[in-house]
Amino acid sequence: MSLKKVNPTNTKSWENLSLHFSDIKKKHLDSLFKEDKKRKDNFTISFEDFEIDFSRNRITKETIQKLIALAKEVHLEDAIEKLYRGEEINETERRAVLHTILRSQESNVCKKNRERFYEVQNTLERIKYFSEEVNNGKWKGFSGKKITDIVNIGIGGSDLGPKMVVEALSNYKTELNTHFISNIDSDFLENYTQKLNPETTIFIVVSKSFSTLETKLNAEYFKNWFLKETNNATLKHNFIAVSTNTNACDTFGICKENIFPMWNWVGGRFSLWSAVGLSISLSIGFDNFKQLLEGADEMDTHFSSAPFEENIPVLLGLIGIWYNNFFNVDSELVIPYSQFLESFVPYLQQLSMESNGKSVDRNGDKIDYQTGTIVWGSVGTNSQHAYMQLIHQGTKLVPVDFIGFKNTMFGNTSLHKQFMANMYGQADALCFGKSKNKVHLDLKVDKKSEEISKVLPYKIFEGNKPSTIIMIDQLSPKSLGKLIAMYEHKVFVQGVIWNIFSFDQFGVELGKENSNKMISNLI
Ligand code: F6P
Repeated sequence: MSLKKVNPTNTKSWENLSLHFSDIKKKHLDSLFKEDKKRKDNFTISFEDFEIDFSRNRITKETIQKLIALAKEVHLEDAIEKLYRGEEINETERRAVLHTILRSQESNVCKKNRERFYEVQNTLERIKYFSEEVNNGKWKGFSGKKITDIVNIGIGGSDLGPKMVVEALSNYKTELNTHFISNIDSDFLENYTQKLNPETTIFIVVSKSFSTLETKLNAEYFKNWFLKETNNATLKHNFIAVSTNTNACDTFGICKENIFPMWNWVGGRFSLWSAVGLSISLSIGFDNFKQLLEGADEMDTHFSSAPFEENIPVLLGLIGIWYNNFFNVDSELVIPYSQFLESFVPYLQQLSMESNGKSVDRNGDKIDYQTGTIVWGSVGTNSQHAYMQLIHQGTKLVPVDFIGFKNTMFGNTSLHKQFMANMYGQADALCFGKSKNKVHLDLKVDKKSEEISKVLPYKIFEGNKPSTIIMIDQLSPKSLGKLIAMYEHKVFVQGVIWNIFSFDQFGVELGKENSNKMISNLI
């Protein structure tokens, strides 16, 4: 059964939200906090080791009620049920969307999806076995040496997710060194091969279609390099594939027992939980990979069962729509205050923008309202020395998601306190700003009045710039799994409400077609 197809702008809730927006658009956050001394508590949701502080958003309780009314009027509950039931909600490709069963407990999988669930479990067993064999030295390269390096060859969802997780969890790494090759830059590849020993390196070719040009070219590059360096040794000890396209893997020269499956009911940008995450399991060990899956499963349970008023992905999605469609902002900024999450935003960009960058609705009609927003960002505190000037004092309104951690992994609390104080300092500066009077008082301390009048206008901070603070106890495989699933479900919520199809990506095809035509002219 397909999703219901309601144009959100034709709903009564949308009309009510527009009227409500006119009432509160000028309301300053400073006054909202003054009116409700318990605003922080009243707008914070705790879910296990997550604490989501929505209080610095341009919302009131009435806003939330009206947003939830919109979600209900466009049948979000029905959509969530169909997602988990494995209905063909990816209608344009006639597929189910079942990344959730990659991490489910059997008890949560409906009868209809049991067959797929068992395929997943069988694959997890293979991932476990292979990860253990490589890490304990039983799986050896063609010349009988222990494996030291893993090279993941893939792009988009076959690269960004696994790369981000491996980097984020580098404190959990095994002795294996894991590398990610995605781009077709021959100088970069030449340089890279100098670091690799063909005897002790496993190349994992990850491609759902096994037809992505970059991945095919890179896989050929490394295969030719390997055969040249080893005088045509067999591939079977050093080349693995993850794909739905076993024929193409076979043609490439990867033996059948080295092919891990992918399924067409898992979108590429939702696939790190499958064998696409083989490099993750090799890099951090299967037990930690399982912890990642369990974290995501906990967020799945929260998303599918929590009432919308306390449902973190639903509220994140709705508040994003409030800014995108009523404040007419063009982008949202994500700033993780963790150096380990340096690749989190590039991953999120594909997840969000490849899913919701659409302009035709689920009825096939051209859309006349805003949909997918531009996601950007980088780690804090570096962001404070790059683009935060614009966010504080520029002309654009850019809502921010701050991601922080209460505890470190190694206990250096004084520096960590400074780190988190920076994040809160940014959020408060954005929210409350600095008034003309306050600036004047500060300047009066050591400046003469004519100097003050010159510089004062430039030192005022309007404030009223929204942010959400996502505070997590500690970065771990489990909490990372929860964080990723939280954003997966936020993206799903927004796609449902915008009445678009979030699980195809036809927009990436024309560029590929053109490049293929050009290549035939160039070569
Ligand atoms: O960017 C387009 C896209 O199809 C993504 O959706 C996908 O993750 C990526 O290319 C790689 O696709 P494949 O895994 O089939 O090589």
